[in-house]
Amino acid sequence: MAVAGRAGRTPLIAGNWKLNLDHLQAIAFVQKLAWSLKDARHDFDTVEVAVFPPFTDLRSVQTLVSADKLPIKYGAQDVSEHESGAYTGEVSAQFLAALNCSYVIIGHSERRALHGETDELIARKAKAAIKAGLVPVICVGETAEDLEQHGPSAIPVAQLGTIAEALKAGDDIVVAYEPVWAIGSGQAATAEQAQTVAAQLRTVLEEKLDADTAAATRILYGGSVKAANIAGFMRQKDIDGALVGGASLDVAEFSSIAQFPKHVGV
Ligand code: 13P
Repeated sequence: MAVAGRAGRTPLIAGNWKLNLDHLQAIAFVQKLAWSLKDARHDFDTVEVAVFPPFTDLRSVQTLVSADKLPIKYGAQDVSEHESGAYTGEVSAQFLAALNCSYVIIGHSERRALHGETDELIARKAKAAIKAGLVPVICVGETAEDLEQHGPSAIPVAQLGTIAEALKAGDDIVVAYEPVWAIGSGQAATAEQAQTVAAQLRTVLEEKLDADTAAATRILYGGSVKAANIAGFMRQKDIDGALVGGASLDVAEFSSIAQFPKHVGV
């Protein structure tokens, strides 16, 4: 079934595991997820599914995906801006590409808040990812205080504006709008608010890159997404998927989110 109204953008349902599941748990999880989606006759060409495990799981996930030819994509949760050298603890985009990662999350609000990541650093990481052939999932979003002071759009628009300065037209990127106050709170943004911000983020891409890149870029919503609320988000014309945290750790729930076209008839 074709998913209408998205100008050819294939929806992406992405699971950010954060600091959860070791490599053995990762193998069991991905296997169960693949079975669940196969049972449901999930069409991966219609809705892409990706998981973002911790670094130490990636080799195991790669081995499983490749051995069983699973249509599930995967990526890392962060990447170094550097290719190699004296950067203790860092992992390069080249190393992730060598593990057949498709994606890498960049600038998640937890990294911004806990590791002081700036838009400038995030831009450099995004460039490093693109150079290695990875698709960066660039996260932006406002805190509760930002929301009170500036409304929902000003901060994510400014963040993406700075990051997009470093990119060029035609770069293959994904943008994730994740209001910080909605992450892990059980209090998702309304679908209408998410749509308003997503539309403004698309305008930023049009202004800083070009109209074709803006039209081709998938914009995800993230923050307390569940099977029960995915439909509302996916009915919005500028929302092309979800970046799911907590609910991505439950096979049945995440599988159900990925099968959103069945529930919403979009
Ligand atoms: P929750 O889905 O747990 O709110 O987390 C969202 C998130 O941070 C995904 O990156």
